[in-house]
Amino acid sequence: MKMWFISLIIFLVLFPDTIFSAPGISSHYKNKGFHTRLEYVIDSDPTKPTHCLFVWHRLPPYLYIEPDELYQLNATIVGFINIEASASQSHPFAYCFLLYNSSKIPFRNRRKFSINIHSRYLDPKSDQNQQYETLYLPEPVIHFTEKHCPYLGSGCPAPLSETGIESPRELTVTIPVGQEYHLAFVFPLTCLFPLIGCSLLFIFSGKNRA
Ligand SMILES: *[C@@H]1O[C@H](CO)[C@@H](O)[C@H](O)[C@H]1NC(C)=O
Ligand SMILES: *[C@@H]1O[C@H](CO)[C@@H](O)[C@H](O)[C@H]1NC(C)=O
Repeated sequence: MKMWFISLIIFLVLFPDTIFSAPGISSHYKNKGFHTRLEYVIDSDPTKPTHCLFVWHRLPPYLYIEPDELYQLNATIVGFINIEASASQSHPFAYCFLLYNSSKIPFRNRRKFSINIHSRYLDPKSDQNQQYETLYLPEPVIHFTEKHCPYLGSGCPAPLSETGIESPRELTVTIPVGQEYHLAFVFPLTCLFPLIGCSLLFIFSGKNRA
């Protein structure tokens, strides 16, 4: 009983510092085939004033977001997004945007944002039977600081590892594997069989005639 009580005291003393120091985030995701929608709601923590909230998100080559959607969030895109390219022809990219910035008033009102992430086609695999692959979907990291966001020209604040709120979820996406190998394999074969047939016929007809 005594131990339990001491634990409770320690918990109550430590709790505000460890857990209440970050704004609270709740998130949802919907997965529809090649498309995943992520939704975030950020609530303030009145005990720790936050003057700057910003989002940093890095995506691997097999995922993309429509640039128009990012422009609507006033995001800065680091890298280039070609929505047509397959995974092997694409590069990773990052984007960031401010959710809140004020030197005077701390963040108080709930903020929301959502993003739609699309899967690219993967290059064909040597295993012909593999039509899909399950890959990791990294979530955005939401950063916060006690001071206002530093102005960095047209860019974004530098990602701060010590103030990032990362979602503990391990999201994955199922991505279709290309069929090129299949075609490359089947096409020469269908051409080859008549060729062999004709050659054999030619050889045998030649032999018969001789
Ligand atoms: C983006 O910036 C414009 C102009 O600065 C502003 O009017 C608009 O509200 C911003 N949009 C978002 C989502 O912050
Ligand atoms: C954030 O706001 C402060 C003033 O409140 C301003 O000086 C600063 O440039 C802003 N930062 C960004 C990245 O817009």
